[in-house]
Amino acid sequence: MIENLWLGTKNVPAESGKTFTVLNPATEEVLAEVADGASADWMKALDLAHAAQKPWAAFAPQARHDILMDLFHAVMERKDEFATLMVNEMGKTWKDALAEVDYGAAYLRWFAGEAIRLPGRYAASPAGNGTITVRPHPVGPCLAITPWNFPLAMATRKIAPALAAGCTMIVKPAAATPLTMLAFGEVVAEVFARHDVPHGTLSFITSTDSKNLSKELMDDPRLRKVTFTGSTKVGQTLVEQSAKNLQRTTMELGGNAPFIVCADADMDRVIKGLMVAKMRNNGQTCIAANRFLVHSSRVEEFQEKVVDKFQSYVTGYGMDETTTLGPLVNAEQRDHVAKLVDQAIGAGATALTGGFTPQGPGFFYPATVLTDVKPGADILKEEIFGPVAVISTFESLDEAIERANDTKFGLAAYAFSENAHTVARLANELQAGMVGLNRGGISDVAAPFGGIKASGFGREGGAEGIDHYLELHYVAQP
Ligand code: SIN
Repeated sequence: MIENLWLGTKNVPAESGKTFTVLNPATEEVLAEVADGASADWMKALDLAHAAQKPWAAFAPQARHDILMDLFHAVMERKDEFATLMVNEMGKTWKDALAEVDYGAAYLRWFAGEAIRLPGRYAASPAGNGTITVRPHPVGPCLAITPWNFPLAMATRKIAPALAAGCTMIVKPAAATPLTMLAFGEVVAEVFARHDVPHGTLSFITSTDSKNLSKELMDDPRLRKVTFTGSTKVGQTLVEQSAKNLQRTTMELGGNAPFIVCADADMDRVIKGLMVAKMRNNGQTCIAANRFLVHSSRVEEFQEKVVDKFQSYVTGYGMDETTTLGPLVNAEQRDHVAKLVDQAIGAGATALTGGFTPQGPGFFYPATVLTDVKPGADILKEEIFGPVAVISTFESLDEAIERANDTKFGLAAYAFSENAHTVARLANELQAGMVGLNRGGISDVAAPFGGIKASGFGREGGAEGIDHYLELHYVAQP
C-alpha cells in the first residue's frame, strides 16, 4: 500500500514518485510504502503556506476555536484507528497508544480555548501624552519537525497553537512513524473543507531527507518559525540555520532526568512514579528518568521492588492483550540501548535483571536494572531512551542535588520526599525546565513543557505555548 503526502488538503504522491518503507518494530513486517518528499514537494508546501497565511489569519478567533474543536472531536471519534496506527508503526502498547490519542487530542482542545484568549494590552503613557496598544499578530508560516516517539501528540502540541495564533504550518513527521500524521492529514482535510479553511494552511510532508528539507525551507525568508522536538545535535543545526533569516525557533531537545529517592520517601509512591517516569512509552520519552539516585538507607528495598516490577513486564506486540512492554522503535534505537548497557556491564556494572539483547524478530529490549555503574559511564551521561534503570546511592541531600544537576541537560527531574523542607529545596535547586515532586507523570496540556541548558528553549503547551507563534505589535496613538 502506498501512502501519499498532503500538500495542503490534497493527498498526492511525491513529485519524484519515490517512496520509503515503514516497518512494524514488533514484527519487522512492512506496514506501508510512503511518499518520499523532496525539494519540489516541500517548496510547493511553502508556496501554499505563504499564500494561505493572510486569509487564514483573517479568520475570526471564534472560528479558529471551532475548527480546533472539530479537529479534537474528529480525532477522538477515530481513537481506535489512531491508537492502532501508533502501536503498529511505533511499537507502543495498546494502553500507551490510547493514552497518546487522549493526550494528543487534548492539545487541540486546549489551544481552541487559547485561540479566543490571545494576549494583548492597553496602557496610558506615563507622561500623559499618548496611549500604548500591544496587539498579537501571527508570526507567519511555520515548520514543525516532529519525533517518532509520540507520532500524534508531539505534532498536535505544535499544530494546535500555530492554528490558534493564525499561523500556517508545514509538518514533517519522523520517517519511522509517518502514518499517524498522514491519517491526521485526512481528518484535517475533512474538517477544513467544512469550514472553508484555505487549502494550504497545513501540509504534511513525509520524507527521508530531513536535512535538505529544513535547510531549503529555512533558506527561504517566507518561513518565519521552526519548532523541533528531537536530539540536541539536530536542534543545534537548526538554530544555526535559523540565523540567516532570523527565524524564531522552539527547541524541545534531549534529557537526562535524575530521579531522587530521599531517606524519608514514601516507597509506594516512588514505585508508582517510577513506572510512569521510566517505563511510559517503553522507556522512550525525552523526560524519562535516566539516573536513579537513592539514599543508601533505602536502596535495598528500592532495588527489590524495582526488580520485582521489571520482571513482571511481558514483552510483545502492542496489540496483544498480555503485552505490557513493546519493542523499541527500530534496530538503531535497540542497538543504542544495548551498547550503553553492554559498555556499563563490561566496565563492572551488575544487571539485577535484563541486560541482554533478545533474538528477533522485533526490536525488543528487556526491562533492565543496573547497579555499580562507574561514575562517568556513557549510560549516565547520554539519554538512554529505553527500559533501563541505572541505580546508585547518595548520603546527603546536598550530594543528591549536586549529582542530579551534574549533566549538560535540563529537561525534567523527579524527586521523592515526605519532608516539606526537603521538597522545597528540591523544587528550588533542581536545574530542569520541569520538576516532578512525589509524582512521576508530569505531562499536562495545561503546563509549559520545555527545558533549559542542552535540553533547549521555548515552551509548548499551557498558556505559554502560544507565545512563540505570536509577535507583538506596539501601536502608539495620541
Ligand atoms: C517527549 O518525549 O518529548 C514528550 C513527552 C511528553 O510530552 O510527555
